[in-house]
Amino acid sequence: MKAKPEQQRPHTLDECRRCDLWRNATQPVGGLGARHAKLMLVGEQPGDQEDLSGKPFVGPAGDLLDEALEAAGIDRRQVYITNAVKHFKWEPRGKRRMHKTPAQKEVAACHYWLEAELESVAPDVIVALGATALKSILQSGSVALKDYMGQAVERDGRWIIATYHPAYALRVPSREARAAARQAIVDALLEAKGLL
Ligand code: URA
Repeated sequence: MKAKPEQQRPHTLDECRRCDLWRNATQPVGGLGARHAKLMLVGEQPGDQEDLSGKPFVGPAGDLLDEALEAAGIDRRQVYITNAVKHFKWEPRGKRRMHKTPAQKEVAACHYWLEAELESVAPDVIVALGATALKSILQSGSVALKDYMGQAVERDGRWIIATYHPAYALRVPSREARAAARQAIVDALLEAKGLL
């Protein structure tokens, strides 16, 4: 799925053919938020509702993220929120479009856009929401979320803090585990706020 030379440096997300995910998505979903936010949150990829609306984190995972931001005393309008992968990857199950985790080659192809956002927003602190975000930020397909959870690491002059993806905190089976995952997200946001 190597992009053809003329497709390697697309000017806009709409033109992007760096991987094949655009084929089944309604539209690309770019980042949203304060242009020069000090804090950037990076998720995995748009979900069903994000794909339809064109905005990141507006579905159930976004609701949980909003709650966590509020609990941490962070105003969503002051941060920049984006995803490691800009198109919704899904497979049909009956009438539903079920989320499919992006392949590492898709994450690597889409890093082009995250890099552009990092350059333009220039945040001081990045919160990686889940393993896919962390892999893209660190540009390594082999990093494990558990090795980075909740502890800030410095890379290229900015702090990176990894935590669970909000969707994990929604779907993990036990009530205790869900509460613990939510709290871990709030704690990571608090830590990020403390570093600003
Ligand atoms: N999950 C993500 O990672 N990003 C979104 O925008 C929505 C759900």
